[in-house]
Amino acid sequence: MSTELADALVSPAVHADEPRIHALFSELRRTSPIHWTQPTDYRPFWALTRHADIMEVSRKNDVFINSRRLNLMTRAQEAAAKRAAGKSGGKYDRMYRTVAHMDNPDHREYRRVTAEWFMGPGVRKFEAAVAALAEESLDHIATFGGESFDYAREVANLFPLRVIMSILGVPREDQPLMLRLTQEFFGADDTDLSGDGGRDGSAAGQHFDLLGQFFDYFTAMAEDRRKQPRDDLATVIACGRPYDGPMGDLETASYYAVIATAGHDTTAAVTAGGLLALLENPDQWRKLRSDPEKTKGAVEEMLRWVSPVKHFLRTAREDYRLGDTTIAAGDGVALFYPSANRDDAVFADPFRFDIERAPNKHLAFGFGGHMCLGLSLARLELTTFLRAFVRRVDSIEPAGDVQRIHANLVGGFKALPVRLSLAH
Ligand code: HEM
Repeated sequence: MSTELADALVSPAVHADEPRIHALFSELRRTSPIHWTQPTDYRPFWALTRHADIMEVSRKNDVFINSRRLNLMTRAQEAAAKRAAGKSGGKYDRMYRTVAHMDNPDHREYRRVTAEWFMGPGVRKFEAAVAALAEESLDHIATFGGESFDYAREVANLFPLRVIMSILGVPREDQPLMLRLTQEFFGADDTDLSGDGGRDGSAAGQHFDLLGQFFDYFTAMAEDRRKQPRDDLATVIACGRPYDGPMGDLETASYYAVIATAGHDTTAAVTAGGLLALLENPDQWRKLRSDPEKTKGAVEEMLRWVSPVKHFLRTAREDYRLGDTTIAAGDGVALFYPSANRDDAVFADPFRFDIERAPNKHLAFGFGGHMCLGLSLARLELTTFLRAFVRRVDSIEPAGDVQRIHANLVGGFKALPVRLSLAH
């Protein structure tokens, strides 16, 4: 692959250009599915674009580890991150340490702190609250009275934020601050959202300063919950005992921050991207309206279609033979989930949006030991919301230019103008 193509594969702007990035992925799946990629501004890595290879690497998390390099960052961003960690005066050896950054045995111990809550009764307890927030979103849509409005800003970005904040116990008056922090944090490669291109060291420094603001907020929250435990996720984290001991400040604040960020932008992207798919495929909208039982399948297809998480990285701990290629110890491996989700070896007619697709073994939530911790909550949010939407919205219509966030980590929408009329 030429440097130009390698640069395209990591470019936040290209990831926001769906036809272009998917043409590139399709070409790689066909001609070079395990591809040594050497972009100008980034350290090299193997780009994995096929479903089967991404599953294999994800499953082998003893060989392919997370702690060394989790996401694509420019060399300047990596240097700025190191400098920012240095500024903590030796308090932390890095700025951010979430479950996603850990390998076993730490990963198992820290994931265990919240896994039960996320996979079971914790999430179920929120069903009524999520349903109420979905109805509130629909009430808000009603206020536009059939006139055009920006669905991304007015609805899709707010609903998941409110859910995750109410689950974490962040009061509503602090939610705008959280929205700004998460958007600037994940939008740091997007000029409109972060102020400059985000690719040089200074922007990367700002990016890490934002973490400081997150951390102050969440450290105070943890102290509060330790003093006065409540029946909420913030308390589960604050009082979590990995290895039967207390959790460190860095890990506690990182835990809150990853849930606040990972739990918001991803679901917002699917809420908006799912509606866009229905706008572009009116036959699927009609099918869904005439049979709301299809909602669950529609949500899975929206997850496959939108694939908001563009990649995660692993590093090989030892030499590993993947297909015909030897991945050497120390090499980085990028898992491009949107590409896996268009692989025709797994999905018939992968570029067709089909709410009845079955089976639908998409990798939008990743796979293996690090598979998304919040997937039950995300599914609950998306199905609850879509059920309310299908029940209350009569007709949907595009109303202007769609703008996507430029990001190579979590994609999403800056603007999605629509006209919606409600049945009641
Ligand atoms: C549509 C919504 C979502 C999508 C598409 C999504 C996608 C992903 C992906 C691809 C990963 C990496 C998996 C891997 O490495 O194999 C991940 C990890 C994670 N997600 Fe999600 N996610 C979503 C919603 C959420 C929500 C709502 C939360 C929390 C409230 C959440 C919390 C996490 C956490 C904590 C991890 C790290 C897990 C680990 O490393 O053990 N996500 N997610």
